[in-house]
Amino acid sequence: MRIRKLRLENFRNFKDQTFYFEDGINILAGDNAQGKTNCVEAVYFCTCLKSYRVIREEQLILFGAEEAVITLTFATGGGEEELKIIFRHEKPKEFRYNGLVVNRLRDLIGCFQSVIFTPDHLNLIKEGPNKRRNFLDMALCALDLHYTDQLLAYQKIIKNRNALLRQCRENPLLAEMLDIWDEKTAEAGAYIAKARQDYLLSLSAIAQRFYCDIAGKEEKLKLIYLNQFTKNAASQEEFFALIRNRLQKMREADMAMGQTTSGIHKDDILFLLAGKSMKYFASQGQIRSGILALKLAEAECVYKKRGDFPVLLLDDILSELDAKRQKFIFQRMEGHQTILTTCELGKIRKKGDQIFFIKEGRVARTRVPSSGAGCIN
Ligand SMILES: Nc1ncnc2c1ncn2[C@@H]1O[C@H](COP(=O)(O)OP(=O)(O)O)[C@@H](O)[C@H]1O
Ligand SMILES: [Mg+2]
Repeated sequence: MRIRKLRLENFRNFKDQTFYFEDGINILAGDNAQGKTNCVEAVYFCTCLKSYRVIREEQLILFGAEEAVITLTFATGGGEEELKIIFRHEKPKEFRYNGLVVNRLRDLIGCFQSVIFTPDHLNLIKEGPNKRRNFLDMALCALDLHYTDQLLAYQKIIKNRNALLRQCRENPLLAEMLDIWDEKTAEAGAYIAKARQDYLLSLSAIAQRFYCDIAGKEEKLKLIYLNQFTKNAASQEEFFALIRNRLQKMREADMAMGQTTSGIHKDDILFLLAGKSMKYFASQGQIRSGILALKLAEAECVYKKRGDFPVLLLDDILSELDAKRQKFIFQRMEGHQTILTTCELGKIRKKGDQIFFIKEGRVARTRVPSSGAGCIN
């Protein structure tokens, strides 16, 4: 996967800027608050079809402007594609793919693949389980259309089940209807659980290999899918039975709480290093290596599933990594397109890389890799 061109019109602090990205490494350099992360956000938007930074997407429109547009032109194995996203105030965003309006978001899932790594990810192990679930969902939604459908369905089902649980407190006769909702919860939940379990198994195997390479010694990194059923299941059917039984067992408690207290919305990932929970025992350095291995494994999983390596987006991450870890990341980036941002250009390798100097929402200057000389955009 290669981005050829990115045009941002009234997107965040970019009035109208076109980036021509090269194969290999593209560096967005500049002081703080100039627009580097805004650019990365626009690219990643094209993968997730939503912002990873804001809930209210109106915030993406340049202050005072009426609409914002992202136009991404990218090459896949099959040819060149164009994805256009238009944001307007108080209206749903509009998607166009190769000029045609796309009404169903699901038709766009997986079209443009990128993997993002930001300093925020370094907190993934120590933070609460919702961050880790979010990581899983973001990765799986970009890979598996059916997963996205099931996840959306599951969220609706839980909302309905919770409403019914609360009604049951007033009218216990309604409790009979819970059987149907338990079935529905277990059905969508079983698909999601199996997908998460399978994904973590392959992610764990790759991350383990990367971790040893980074650490320079054999140390076992393991990512384990944690659910409330305590054991992993061999099949979707088995998950279905486990989830449904659990819901039935918890029904009284759920009614009292007016909430579904068990299910895949409580899942977590356990990071183990040499058999010990990284959350409690790992050093800062081990956590950095673990997350680095995880993120690179995420990209590798996209490649395995899609046969095309995703674009890597590294936002301000190099300053968080020491020379050894930086070297590893550069080795892995070899041959793939990467966009990385930095405030400290001097500290990173820049020979042969395309550099965009960003200032106040504009590319003030670029340096193309072939000449190495400064040139005005
Ligand atoms: N909707 C918007 N309209 C105009 N400017 C915006 C908008 N949203 C954010 N900004 C500006 O973008 C800048 C931050 O850009 P960012 O990409 O996060 O910086 P950095 O270069 O440090 O990564 C800030 O100056 C902020 O005011
Ligand atoms: Mg930034």
